[in-house]
Amino acid sequence: MYSYGRQNIDNKDIQAVIKVLKSDWLTQGPKVQEFEKVLCDKFGSKYASVVCNGTAALHLAGLALGWKAGDIVITSPMTFLASANCILYTGATSDFVDIDEKYYTIDLNKLEDKIKQYKKINKKIKAVVGVDYAGHPCDWENLKSLSKEYKFQLVNDNCHALGATYKNNEQYTVKYADAVCQSFHPVKNFTTGEGGAVLTNRPEIDNRIKILRNHGIIKNDSKFKIQNSKFIKPWYYEMQFLGFNYRITDFQCALGISQIKKLDRFVSRRKKIAEYYNIAFGKNKNFILPTVKKNSGHAFHLYPLQIKFENLKINKIEYFNKLRKAGINCQVHYIPVHLQPYYKNNFRFKPGDFPISEKFYEREISIPMYPSLDDTDLNYISGKIIDTVK
Ligand SMILES: Cc1ncc(COP(=O)(O)O)c(C=O)c1O
Repeated sequence: MYSYGRQNIDNKDIQAVIKVLKSDWLTQGPKVQEFEKVLCDKFGSKYASVVCNGTAALHLAGLALGWKAGDIVITSPMTFLASANCILYTGATSDFVDIDEKYYTIDLNKLEDKIKQYKKINKKIKAVVGVDYAGHPCDWENLKSLSKEYKFQLVNDNCHALGATYKNNEQYTVKYADAVCQSFHPVKNFTTGEGGAVLTNRPEIDNRIKILRNHGIIKNDSKFKIQNSKFIKPWYYEMQFLGFNYRITDFQCALGISQIKKLDRFVSRRKKIAEYYNIAFGKNKNFILPTVKKNSGHAFHLYPLQIKFENLKINKIEYFNKLRKAGINCQVHYIPVHLQPYYKNNFRFKPGDFPISEKFYEREISIPMYPSLDDTDLNYISGKIIDTVK
C-alpha cells in the first residue's frame, strides 16, 4: 500500500540510535545539545531548542513570546490543528485569514484588511503564525514589512518546509520570524520519530523555551530568586514558571543528527517526484497542480493535487476509495480548522468564512510523496490517479 508520506531510515540511522541506547544517557544527555548545534548550522539560527514534537514547539513559542488572554493571534485555516491550537493553549484568541489561491499560504491583502477591521474596534493583533504549507514558504518579506508597520510578532510554522528555500536561501526562516517551529514526525522531510524544535535569533526567547520545556526549572544560581547561600544546597533548583515535560530523548536526537545529513538529498528527490507528477498531470484540465513562486524553492513535504470534481461524474469520496482499493492511500490536507466542531461551537466560525480554503479542501488530495518512491512506483501511482478521473 502506498501512503501519502513515509520515513526513510537507513542502516546509519539505526547504528546511530543503537550507539546512544548503549551509552549512559538516554535522555538529557549530550546528543540534545549536539542536535541543537546541527540545527543552528543547517538553518542559520543563533539558537535552537529541541522538544518532543512540533505542537510543543508551537506552544512554547507562543508562551515565550508572551501570548496571553486578550491577545489576538492569526493563522490560516488551511493547516494542521496545532498551528491554531497553540494559540488557544496560551489563553490567547485565534482568528484566521484565508489562503492565497495560487500558493496556498496566508493571503497578505486579506491579512491587512483583517488588521484594519480590528483597528476600527480599537484592537490590534499580537502575532501571526505563518504556515509554509506543503513546503512552500509564505511571502515572508512582505509579511515582515506588515509586522513592522502594524507591530506584531511573527512565528513561522515551518513543519512542512524543512529544506525549502526563499530568495535562494535555505536559512530564510529566522531572518523573518521571531520564532520558527519545526516538526520531525515520520512523514516530515527528516525524522526523529516524534520531535520538534524552536529556532530563534533572540536569546530571551530561547532561554525561556529551554526553561519551559523542563517544568519551568532553573538550575543556574545567578538566576535564583533566593540568593541566601544558606538555602542554596548542591541539589537546589527553583521552579519559577509553570512549565512542562516537553523534552526529547538522546536517541531521538541521534536519529535527527543522522537524518539531517540526508535532508538535501531527500528534498532533491521530492522535487524530482513533483516534476514527474507535473508532467503526468499537466495536460488534464481537471487537475490543478501546485505552483511554485519564482523566488521560492518548494520542499514538497506534500504534493497537494486539486481535482475539479465539479466537472466529473465521480465524487471525492468515491475517488478516494477507488484509489485506496488500487493500493494508494492518499490523505487530505486539511479540513479547514475553522470548520472543526470545536472552533465552530466556541468561536462561531461557519462555512463560507474562508472560501478559498474551503474550495481548496473540496478539491485537494495529497498523493504519495516520499524519497523512496522510484519511477516504477510513480508510473503506477500517476496512471491510477489519471485513470480514476475518467
Ligand atoms: C503545519 C503543522 N504544524 C504543526 C504540526 C505539529 O507537529 P507534531 O505532529 O510534531 O506535533 C504539524 C504536524 O503534522 C503540521 O503539519
